[in-house]
Amino acid sequence: MANTLIIVGGQFGDEGKGKIVDFLAEKADMIVRYSGGNNAGHTVVSGGETFKLHIIPSGIIRKNKVNIIGNGTVVNPDVLVDEMENLEKMGLTVNEKNLILSSAAHVISERHIMDDSSSASSKMIGTTGRGIGPCYCDKVVRTGTRIGDFVKGKSGTAVSLRPFVKDTYSIINDAIDAGKHVLFEGAQGTLLDVDHGTYPFVTSSNSIAGGALIGSGVGPTKIREVCGVFKAYSTRVGGGPFPTELGNESMTKEEDSVDMLRKELSAEGFERLLRKTVIKANEGDAYTQGRLLRMQGYEYGTTTSRPRRTGWFDGVAARYAARVNGMTCAAITKLDVLRNLDKIKICVAYLINGKQTGNFLLGAEELSKAVPVYEEMSGWKEDISKARKADDLPAAAKNYLGRLQQVIGVPIGIISVGAGREETIPLGNMLW
Ligand code: GDP
Ligand code: IMO
Ligand code: MG
Repeated sequence: MANTLIIVGGQFGDEGKGKIVDFLAEKADMIVRYSGGNNAGHTVVSGGETFKLHIIPSGIIRKNKVNIIGNGTVVNPDVLVDEMENLEKMGLTVNEKNLILSSAAHVISERHIMDDSSSASSKMIGTTGRGIGPCYCDKVVRTGTRIGDFVKGKSGTAVSLRPFVKDTYSIINDAIDAGKHVLFEGAQGTLLDVDHGTYPFVTSSNSIAGGALIGSGVGPTKIREVCGVFKAYSTRVGGGPFPTELGNESMTKEEDSVDMLRKELSAEGFERLLRKTVIKANEGDAYTQGRLLRMQGYEYGTTTSRPRRTGWFDGVAARYAARVNGMTCAAITKLDVLRNLDKIKICVAYLINGKQTGNFLLGAEELSKAVPVYEEMSGWKEDISKARKADDLPAAAKNYLGRLQQVIGVPIGIISVGAGREETIPLGNMLW
């Protein structure tokens, strides 16, 4: 069987895919981005450095890996060149040997960005404004420009990208057939998938595991494992239904960011505010519980810096995500962020017009009416970021993970307790 692994977001994006890809890329020979564009923001923290990737696969941080930007992506050539230059400034090597760009990926133009920034529907959805939707639109109506044609041009960007452009499907399939370890890096998340997400509050591509096949030119029989990445709670940027949200979108938008507070308050002042927030959260104030997750989890967008809406773990949505992706395992990230809470909730069902259901609802309108049914579990106070094996975790954290595993319905393969590469606990049960 092929040595292949698809990493997908199990929620609304920003689950920590970049971190998990970087961790698992140690074994990879090739890392393939298969969908989306620079709407993605993947953060990798390694050796004290923070790398923010938007279109280049997270495998670029490690030496001697082949990184592929697949045919299913949309690429802003100027952004790609900037990203390459920034990585080089940070001491990494980026050349035709470790980065290959599919000739069939589509080009994001200035007009796409303008249309995305100005349209009423983009504003309602709260897109990243990077031209993603209009570019995919041109692709589907067959008026788009492919990278292969773009690099035939004479512009400086075209000339500098030309050596990186190839037909990538054969390179990927050759690697798989040769028994190489090929990792597919998802962008966005299951609930943002254009078919399987909370339409119309979604992105414009197939972010689920099926998208990895289309976005790279690999057949379904060649995939061995699918790992879904989930935060230990939930976040969402942009508009759209969010059943387990704590507080609401407008309150979240108006609050002072952690960066602003750190600038305005002394270190002690910030700690005092955090302590006050913990007390109010434990008194049961839902908005403050969400605010605490934002403060402790530093929940601000990697691409747009917007404060992320926060909420409890949605087990109904997670089980749905496990099914539509065919997940074989899950990675749970940001477990450390749940510290200081007396009680932690997991949504195990929805109430719709007073009727209970365990099924996820596909329509955004129906989903916005869902009232979560929660199970309450004990929390923990400790900072668990130093844990390096499951046994180092407090009993309450272990119980919480056990329940998450039951609710998602697939084994947990990795636990993440911090942003750093070393702050990761592999459970030794993945095939990869
Ligand atoms: P992605 O889009 O799925 O790759 O996720 P992002 O990089 O947009 O957002 C995840 C954020 O959480 C980043 O700032 C990561 O550095 C950070 N992060 C990832 N895993 C952990 C973790 O286990 N604990 C903490 N505290 N931060 C984490
Ligand atoms: P990563 O890969 C979180 C959201 C936007 C908006 C909707 C549509 O970092 O997880 P778009 O610009 O794609 O047309 O916006 O999708 N969105 C993301 N949210 N993480 C992402 O990527 C996202 N990419 C798009 O906020 O709600
Ligand atoms: Mg992100």
